[in-house]
Amino acid sequence: MTTETSLILAIESSCDETSVAVIENGRTIRSNIVASQIKSHMRFGGVVPEVASRHHVEQITQVVEMALEQAGLTSVDDVDAIAVTQGPGLVGALLVGLTAAKTLSFVYDKPLLAVNHLAGHIYASQLMTPLEFPLLALIASGGHTELVYMQADGDFEVIGETQDDAVGEAYDKIGRLLDLPYPAGKYMDQLAQEGQDTYRIPRAMLHEDNLDFSFSGMKSAVMNLVHNASQRGESIDSVNLATSFQNAVVEVLVEKSSRALRERPEVKQFILAGGVAANSGLRGGLQARFAEEFPEVELLIPPLSLCGDNAAMIGAAAHHMYLKGEFTGLSINAVPGLML
Ligand code: KG4
Ligand code: ZN
Repeated sequence: MTTETSLILAIESSCDETSVAVIENGRTIRSNIVASQIKSHMRFGGVVPEVASRHHVEQITQVVEMALEQAGLTSVDDVDAIAVTQGPGLVGALLVGLTAAKTLSFVYDKPLLAVNHLAGHIYASQLMTPLEFPLLALIASGGHTELVYMQADGDFEVIGETQDDAVGEAYDKIGRLLDLPYPAGKYMDQLAQEGQDTYRIPRAMLHEDNLDFSFSGMKSAVMNLVHNASQRGESIDSVNLATSFQNAVVEVLVEKSSRALRERPEVKQFILAGGVAANSGLRGGLQARFAEEFPEVELLIPPLSLCGDNAAMIGAAAHHMYLKGEFTGLSINAVPGLML
């Protein structure tokens, strides 16, 4: 039997953060420990799957203990359920979190909830504000760029998506070319705030009558500028290049989001989600557009601490699943390509 309340221990290990949280009623963060591996992957310029899995194995037990302690709990016995990211993500990394969650579920006889990582990014906003449907969400992360329409909890309709690279991936690849540390999105964003929009970057699919995106052409345009300059023995102004690229990306994301909102005037909230939600240009661009054109729609942008991968968002997404009794058996597997 479930009641209207929940205390959920959530585990997230889909990529390069080992994270465990304790979340009350899908809204209150009792604890949210994030052990980042970024330093270990930095020297390789990207996430090395084998290295990620090994770090998760080394960290997970301790991170569970820290999350319980910070939440003021003495044992897993004190929670109602265990939630875990099932996908999408790196298979070896996901398996570490799943194995830990299944083990705790079995040993402590607690129901298990399998959560989609992308649903987690959307529900990060519920940790600030109760969600109101229908809503639209823009997921912008290292692996995904999607516009999602939701009419109820757990009801996801992808109405637009990237045809090639994810926006975060484009940021990281350009940043690597400019010798910025991994993951480069944050550093590109910092440069972008200091420069001028002097380079012409195409706005891919901006005027097409759909809600899809394409970032590979925009990324190639930037890379060609860099290569051509170096062939001619000229130097490129990487600060202005970062500004020009960011302006192009933000314009496309804000325009497509606006198009989706015009098509769905019933929408009450718009959620910005995923690692790229930390981007200053995107946050500012959406805020300005909403003030001007959609003042009646509530724009939800999580604090920086909840934009990147974390287990609190997984616990937030698991609450309605717990109330509905959407539990899973111990035989579930990781699904690296899981879709919404
Ligand atoms: O959601 P996330 O933490 O992991 C995935 O699920 O993919 O997103 C990570 C992505 C990386 O590509 C990273 O470079 C990007 O988010 N990112 C940013 C910023 N902060 C993180 N991209 C642009 N501007 C930022 N401020
Ligand atoms: Zn993510």
